[in-house]
Amino acid sequence: MSAEIAPAAAVERQRGPGEACVMVIFGATGDLTKRLLMPSLYNLKTAGLLPERFAVVGVSNIEHTSQSFREELTREAPGNATGTFDPAVWNWLAERLHYVTGVFDDPATFERLQQRLDIIEKESGVPGNHLYYFATAPQFFGLIAERLGEAGLTRPPDGLWRRLVVEKPFGRDLESASQLNAQLRRVMGEEQIYRIDHYMGKETVQNLMVFRFGNGIFEPIWDRRYIDHVQITAAETLGVEKRAGYYEGAGALRDMVPNHLFQLLALTAMEPPSSFAAEAVRDEKAKILAALQPPSAEGVLTSAARGQYAAGTLGGARVLGYREEPGVAAQSQTETYAALRVGIDNWRWAGVPFYLRTGKRLKARSTTISIHFRRPPLQLFRRMGVGELDPNVLTIHVQPDEGISLRFGAKIPGPTVDIGDVQMKFKYAEYFGARPATGYETLLHDVMIGDQTLFQRADMTEAGWRVIQPLLDVWHALPARGFPNYAAGSWGPAEADELLRRDGRAWINDAA
Ligand code: BG6
Repeated sequence: MSAEIAPAAAVERQRGPGEACVMVIFGATGDLTKRLLMPSLYNLKTAGLLPERFAVVGVSNIEHTSQSFREELTREAPGNATGTFDPAVWNWLAERLHYVTGVFDDPATFERLQQRLDIIEKESGVPGNHLYYFATAPQFFGLIAERLGEAGLTRPPDGLWRRLVVEKPFGRDLESASQLNAQLRRVMGEEQIYRIDHYMGKETVQNLMVFRFGNGIFEPIWDRRYIDHVQITAAETLGVEKRAGYYEGAGALRDMVPNHLFQLLALTAMEPPSSFAAEAVRDEKAKILAALQPPSAEGVLTSAARGQYAAGTLGGARVLGYREEPGVAAQSQTETYAALRVGIDNWRWAGVPFYLRTGKRLKARSTTISIHFRRPPLQLFRRMGVGELDPNVLTIHVQPDEGISLRFGAKIPGPTVDIGDVQMKFKYAEYFGARPATGYETLLHDVMIGDQTLFQRADMTEAGWRVIQPLLDVWHALPARGFPNYAAGSWGPAEADELLRRDGRAWINDAA
């Protein structure tokens, strides 16, 4: 497909810079700050979306002065930039970097932070709007919130704001997520809390709403009458990397499903909101998550599959099995692959299964949502039964190669009527050019302007955990037999194929 698109028609939120504020990053010496937050701030500055009056305060227990913190980030900045690196832009940001050394359970850390914020306000004229970013290990989230509350830092003076960004993982099961929500809510109102899910920062994910509700032709067929089932895949080629410390206690299900995959599902299945106001959109997403049916304990055995990768070959290279990776137990029971079938208990989706899967060390990196339509009702073509016709599939390619494609049958040229599958494709890069970004830019900017649309609300986080809790419980109670059960470089365990085969369906692995 090709067509001229006027730049003015480009789907972009045309908004000005964020509101003047100080961004306080807890856990500022970690990877997230260097690899994602700083490059995002840099990109926002380049795009003219950072406020002129702006500062960053890093807080961490690693000893630093503001000067040494600045120097360290400056050394790393060019290597972490998503595009060409302009030292002038970086210097603008570097001049605004400050640092407070301290441990998170010590009230003195927060006194020092308060003093630093006062100085910034006085010397640089940045008003007392504070954006607190929790980039620490998750066990500190509740504690830092409590200390901020005790120090009086969560209550904004009149006309100013205090906002909190919480990274994932948001809890490790339903109970801990509810506890964390309660802890945060003791010191802040829901309207101050931004639970971040970086999938919501991806362009294609944001485009889903535009695709569904900005066009007239899809909504009329977007339901149980026309759709047979939906597949959502987040396949990674990466292994556990250096994250065994976290991943061993998490696993693929916790790591990806209640957050990223359920967000994709909610956007795919939600009703049209009455407006694009944050609460209107979040209400509709929350309704879908609340309508997901958690499996019964017995149901887990037939509606889910788990896997762990063995050594294999990826991109021509031999790679280790999960149990051989550094920091992983020799008999680890942690799953690196999870697949499940969920149903949505509402009028639009009754009887339409949503199949979700995610895994590490799979054959290709590919995140897709594919909508499988029903077959035509009648056999009209000679020598070809309806059952043999491949159903139409609409695929949203979240990454890489962001775009949308539609598979349909076409007559193969020649004297006989033979049908072949063809693909109609739209690729973002071809229409709009590639825009290298971290995916955090939109989300950070949204916090600075107070737009919660793309962030998870308390009820959404708990609804997600409620659905997978039976899987967590059953998988914990019944150790997996036969781990490892898929080779690195394959498409996952046979059990996951079986899950769909039992329903007369198959995973689509080559969603072109
Ligand atoms: C993170 C998970 O949230 O998402 C990682 O903790 C995973 O394990 C990552 O690799 C995937 O994100 P992306 O953007 O690469 O699809």
